Amino acid sequence: MSLNEYLREKAGLKGTKVMCREAGCGCCAVTVSHLPTDSNTVKTYSVQSCLTPLYAVDGWQISTVEGIGSQRDGFHPIQERIAKFNGTQCGYCTPGMVMNMYGLLHQKPNITAQEVEDNFDGNICRCTGYRPILDAMKSFSEDANIPGRKAIDIEDLNKNLCPKTGETCSGNCGSRSLDLEISGARWYRPLTLADLGKVMKANKDKKTRLFFGNTSTGIYKNDGPFDVYVDLHRVKELFSFQATDTNVRLGAATTLTQFLEKLRGHQEKPGFKCFSQVHKHLKVVANVMVRNAGSIGGNLMIKHNHKDFPSDIFTTLEAAGAQVEIFDTASSAKKTVPLLEFMTSVNMSGKVLTAVILPRLADNVVYRTFKITPRWQNAHAYVNAAFKIPFADMTVKGQPSIVLGGISADTIHAKKTETFLANKKLSAAVVKEAYSTLRDELVPTESPLESSAKYRKELASGLLYKVLLGLCGTKNPKVRTGAEDLHRPVSSGLQTYQEMAREFPLKHALPKVTSTLQASGEAVFVNDMPKFQQELFAAFAIADVGSAIIGSIDPSEALKIPGVTHFLSAKDTLCNDFPQPMNPELFATKEVFYAGQPLGLVLAETQPLAIEAAKKVKVNYSKVMTPILTVEDSLARGKEFESKRKTTVIGNPDDAWKSVDHTVEGTVSMGSQYHFYMETQVTLAVPSEDGIDLYASTQNSDLCQFAASRVIDKPMHFINITVPRVGGGFGGKSLDTSTLAAAASLGAYKTKRPVRLSLDLSSNMRMLGKRPPYKATYKAGFTKEGDVQVIEVDYMVDVGFTEDGSFFTTYSMGYLDMCYHVPNWKIVGKSMMTNKRTMVAVRAPGSVPAALISESIFEHVAQALGKHSTVVKELNLYSEKQTDLTGHVLNNCTVRELWRRLKDVAEVDARIRQINAFNQENQWKKRGITMTTCKYGMCYFGAGHGATVTIFARDGSVQISQGGVEMGQGLYTKVAQGVAHILGVPLDNIKVRPNQGVISPNSVVSGGSVASESSMQAAIGAAEILRERMKPIKEKFPDADWKTLCEKSNASKIDLTARFLNEHRMGSPYINYHTYCVAVTETEVDVLTGESQIRRVDIMADYGESLNPMIDIGQTEGGFVMGLGNFASEDTIFDSKTGQILNDGTWNYKPPTTKDIPIDWRIHLLPDTPNPSGIRSSKATGEPSIALSVGGLLANKQALQSARKDLFGKEDFIPVVAPFTVERAQQSVGLNESLLAV
Ligand SMILES: Cc1cc2nc3c(=O)[nH]c(=O)nc-3n(C[C@H](O)[C@H](O)[C@H](O)COP(=O)(O)OP(=O)(O)OC[C@H]3O[C@@H](n4cnc5c(N)ncnc54)[C@H](O)[C@@H]3O)c2cc1C
Ligand code: FES
Ligand code: FES
Repeated sequence: MSLNEYLREKAGLKGTKVMCREAGCGCCAVTVSHLPTDSNTVKTYSVQSCLTPLYAVDGWQISTVEGIGSQRDGFHPIQERIAKFNGTQCGYCTPGMVMNMYGLLHQKPNITAQEVEDNFDGNICRCTGYRPILDAMKSFSEDANIPGRKAIDIEDLNKNLCPKTGETCSGNCGSRSLDLEISGARWYRPLTLADLGKVMKANKDKKTRLFFGNTSTGIYKNDGPFDVYVDLHRVKELFSFQATDTNVRLGAATTLTQFLEKLRGHQEKPGFKCFSQVHKHLKVVANVMVRNAGSIGGNLMIKHNHKDFPSDIFTTLEAAGAQVEIFDTASSAKKTVPLLEFMTSVNMSGKVLTAVILPRLADNVVYRTFKITPRWQNAHAYVNAAFKIPFADMTVKGQPSIVLGGISADTIHAKKTETFLANKKLSAAVVKEAYSTLRDELVPTESPLESSAKYRKELASGLLYKVLLGLCGTKNPKVRTGAEDLHRPVSSGLQTYQEMAREFPLKHALPKVTSTLQASGEAVFVNDMPKFQQELFAAFAIADVGSAIIGSIDPSEALKIPGVTHFLSAKDTLCNDFPQPMNPELFATKEVFYAGQPLGLVLAETQPLAIEAAKKVKVNYSKVMTPILTVEDSLARGKEFESKRKTTVIGNPDDAWKSVDHTVEGTVSMGSQYHFYMETQVTLAVPSEDGIDLYASTQNSDLCQFAASRVIDKPMHFINITVPRVGGGFGGKSLDTSTLAAAASLGAYKTKRPVRLSLDLSSNMRMLGKRPPYKATYKAGFTKEGDVQVIEVDYMVDVGFTEDGSFFTTYSMGYLDMCYHVPNWKIVGKSMMTNKRTMVAVRAPGSVPAALISESIFEHVAQALGKHSTVVKELNLYSEKQTDLTGHVLNNCTVRELWRRLKDVAEVDARIRQINAFNQENQWKKRGITMTTCKYGMCYFGAGHGATVTIFARDGSVQISQGGVEMGQGLYTKVAQGVAHILGVPLDNIKVRPNQGVISPNSVVSGGSVASESSMQAAIGAAEILRERMKPIKEKFPDADWKTLCEKSNASKIDLTARFLNEHRMGSPYINYHTYCVAVTETEVDVLTGESQIRRVDIMADYGESLNPMIDIGQTEGGFVMGLGNFASEDTIFDSKTGQILNDGTWNYKPPTTKDIPIDWRIHLLPDTPNPSGIRSSKATGEPSIALSVGGLLANKQALQSARKDLFGKEDFIPVVAPFTVERAQQSVGLNESLLAV
């Protein structure tokens, strides 16, 4: 059992969250305090509770988020700070953020901003875009320029006293040995190497697992189960640290965090300069919490057991010439061997790694390491490399050491290149030959989850070139920066906005009303609800092939497992035809259409049992076919949903071609983004006396209620639905949640027991819909000035297995013009069937692909004319009253104003000149800058949102029930602000209650950015009714305070509850108004590796009169960063044979983390621009900004095109492919050795 399971399931401490269960997301963070074996002082640090075995923390003090502060006992300063800085949206990641910071402050109360920024590499937040979280945490630092900065009070760090002694933790309780029997396995905690030897000898025929941090189980999950577990935390011989003039010796149980400290302490000493490089490298190994828990020995042993593991520790230490000390429990002898020998020829059975020894290096040795990754932090390497080169007088003195990871299981040293370089005097010719020797000797293993072999060969060779370039101390200034790494300073943010004091607390920049509850872990998500008596846990049995005919489904093996109670399939439903349009059947009956399709539901006494049993359900397929996984394949196999083809013609494109000066043609493609909400999908169905109480994490309670009733053939009133809160939705909980609602409801109905259905991350990613991939070809015609006259676009959308996904084909078509007026269009959109779950909305589903296509076209036009893209885009911007692609007249079109102001504020022209100069001076580091736009059509679809406002007469407090769903977007806050404004009561006098079917039935889905404003307007409507009703009392008692007025109203028999439906009326033809925003994005790319960073982003948005600028800026930042992921690192990868998703976890799927965000990020809301068509002059803010982030991709492309121009004299346009990964960026240039000047 993990510490997380214990905290959540046994201790009932649900503030600690869980999501990935592989140390990749950070939401499960807690702090541990204990006396480490090698220390006299208690250490407190953060760890991921999901991988921490419960018995490993015997005697340790554990602090969880609710333990450091709460509503009742007062919030902790970290909880207050993250809330005040608007660092929480859905709040699912927040407890993890808080506890990680708590651990950091324990280690370093006087923290710097840099140390804060380095500390959040393992905490993913999908909502906020990280900037407000970092600001909140940096406000504890001594050097950050953050308003409200204040260091932590030391008393706030020692709040948790030992329940036994009433004092601070002495740490002594965890020092005893253990010998336990746990669920049939033996568990030991020996205190000495000799004891450890005895344990191992006694169990030599058993399957034994030594462990320290146990973090490797986040990567290699299937190594167990074991008969014997041996905890190494107290084996004192594994902790020694000795430094002499000739070497440094570290015990194998040294954690990676301690290793970092030791390296820093010794890097200035003669002969140990290389430690500064290892130190730099270690800071990007795994993440802070894994480094706190995991050991050097553990890391080396992973590599020993799994030769293809790209261990950074091994690569860096092997090049440095490290040795390891091994203890053989059979002979009780110790032996020291070179690291290479340990890795290649020592059988570690019955042996223990006791120490690592790093030698002193001669003064003339140059030592450099690299780690190139798909995102900046918490990612394993495409390739890691370490070079140790003895060097003097421009000559390699003897044999260098070149160690590479990520190439293949067999590749350790680049032997041919080492031999080639031995004793060579460096020259341009030698450098070129070294590059090609290395490239040619490497044979990378091909795998769909790895980058291409070609890239890894060229990357490794490029890294060698970097090292040699540095050694040459080149006189050629243009190539000099090629030797350097990209440097990222501490990030900063600036926000400017207007508030409307006359409507306060509406239009006031306020943090969210529930933010402190989220920060203290007291906010209750569905899976945090206490266990009901007799509760069962459910897991879906899913198809493991993408296209097959089902022969039979056999659950017998699953049902044999003790504790597994039921298996339900289509024949158990009363109606298997499903009301959710994207998925015609709840459980597949005859045919499987995608790998991940639900076949049935396993019910068991615990969730781990249900998950284990679901994997044991056997499916016999009578026929298995090759799945269709790409639009090209779909086209080739004639699988277009032809009736869904959509064509738009505007103007007269055929004629327009005749009059244009120039044309360009190209392609754009985009992959598929997973929502990556931090709370995976979950539903709890509880039988009641007259139906089922359903608790769902959904954006669409109405559809869930319907699906849950339909599957058991009951009327909708049988289902009483509540949506407590949603831990991030982004569109993914609009339709797919109904599958869970129906299945859980079926389980509860059939068994008459409560059923909890909470998806593990892998099932969530495999089963449910994602952002659809696109492939477009385009042709544009334009004048010599860059005025675009005509565009033709032909695109294919991968809509998944049902034609319902063709919604996206139509939807994105309407966005293709973005903010650019083009008089003639011909657009053809094709919906392509594939063997994937029907695609679903992911934040701004129409505008994201459209922005990629349209902004790319304008970049291409500019490139063809030799102009900067800002010039061409500006020329083509929409003006007031022009008609857009969808036939809407653009009234109050502010795009030109935004563009003009932002260009000015962000000093775009001057920066273009600086970038041009930089690019002329630098061949291997290139910069790009571009402006992007978004015109986001807001449509009030559906019946509308309703709200019920109740005033409690006895004390005047106010309660609001409404139909919108709070998923982090600040809906409750805006609702409360609106009612507070109308009734004139303080915000803390108001409570907004969750969406409940009984009070807010027939709710339209909370999506498309409308729910916050619309729910707020509904609540305002209800509050106005109450205000009107109370008016006579107010007139009669003009001086009475609010409470008295309420009492008197009640005494006068005035109904103090009112309901109002904010009826939706669509605009004409359907859009009500447009939200406009513009961004400037500047990036820098390392041409040799493909890595890039966003140097600066400026955004200006027209949000009308923002209902809450703090929340709206939070939406802008969150959307923008989610888009950066879509355009830079996120895509789903499928197995071409089975159709299964291969990257179904955090190890291989990489949303942005804190260092992927802009270094300098400025956001401005356009002042004095009320929106006449929006609710209370406001505009929607949830989705528009995501499209702007295509600027990161396009700026990178500009940079790389500059490289191509330098290297090949080519002024071509690199085809646009999203995500434009580090690999794709590097490969788009096309390097070869002839280009490598020194
Ligand atoms: C999310 C995540 C990201 C990561 N990213 C990186 C990365 O970027 N680069 C990288 O190099 N690594 C990375 N790692 C690996 C990480 O560094 C290791 O998991 C960690 O160092 C292992 O230490 P541990 O003490 O937890 O080992 P454990 O998990 O406790 O043990 C690992 C293995 O070593 C054995 N073992 C442990 N100690 C000894 C010993 N003294 N003698 C003999 N056998 C022993 C165990 O039996 C087990 O087989 C990542 C891990 C995770 C979970
Ligand atoms: S749940 Fe532990 S890190 Fe994700
Ligand atoms: S607030 Fe961070 S994931 Fe939602």
